[in-house]
Amino acid sequence: MKIITILGSPKKKGNTGKVLSIFEDRVGKKHEIERININQYKVGGCIGCYKCQEKLDEPGCVQKDDALIIFEKMILADAIVYASPLYCWSFTSQIKPLIDRHFCLISGYGTSEHTSLLDGKRTALLVTCAGPIEGNCDAIKGIFNGFADYGKILTKGSFILPFCTTPDAIGDEGIELAEKLAKAITE
Ligand SMILES: Cc1cc2nc3c(=O)[nH]c(=O)nc-3n(C[C@H](O)[C@H](O)[C@H](O)COP(=O)(O)O)c2cc1C
Repeated sequence: MKIITILGSPKKKGNTGKVLSIFEDRVGKKHEIERININQYKVGGCIGCYKCQEKLDEPGCVQKDDALIIFEKMILADAIVYASPLYCWSFTSQIKPLIDRHFCLISGYGTSEHTSLLDGKRTALLVTCAGPIEGNCDAIKGIFNGFADYGKILTKGSFILPFCTTPDAIGDEGIELAEKLAKAITE
């Protein structure tokens, strides 16, 4: 299985990067993993021109930036893990433009003509946050579930590590979460 992981944190070695690395180490023994550190790519925000909707068989976005490089990798993958720290109950501003730009992979949502270049791939969400899960992570889970439905990607769940402080303080709970994520995405 080919798995793309997308790290939405501005910090490569922060809390989210640490849990994601544990997941990659576990899964990387049997599967092919490629990490996208979103901070190292240039992805502009969607400009809402709708030109992409004229092309169904390739990402028809008029912005020829790094989003297209990432989409090419995603289209060739079997599974995509989106990983983000919780920023103001949502995704970071580093990964949000890429999420919006998925628009160019999908058309006909809500109709019988609904198509997606990610159709049938597996996906999961990994989040780390400083607060609790309850009453704190509802928005990001809702966005992710809506987004998976929109992209015809099969969600294997949201995996959230609450009460994070520093990467060094991540212990058994982080390892257990990464293992649960590995099981969900590969089995
Ligand atoms: C701008 C900003 C907004 C944040 N918003 C939230 C939040 O809404 N809820 C929460 O529990 N933690 C929030 N946090 C804490 C981070 O989600 C948490 O520290 C996370 O583990 C950082 O991951 P990273 O080290 O991978 O960047 C916020 C942190 C920052 C810097």
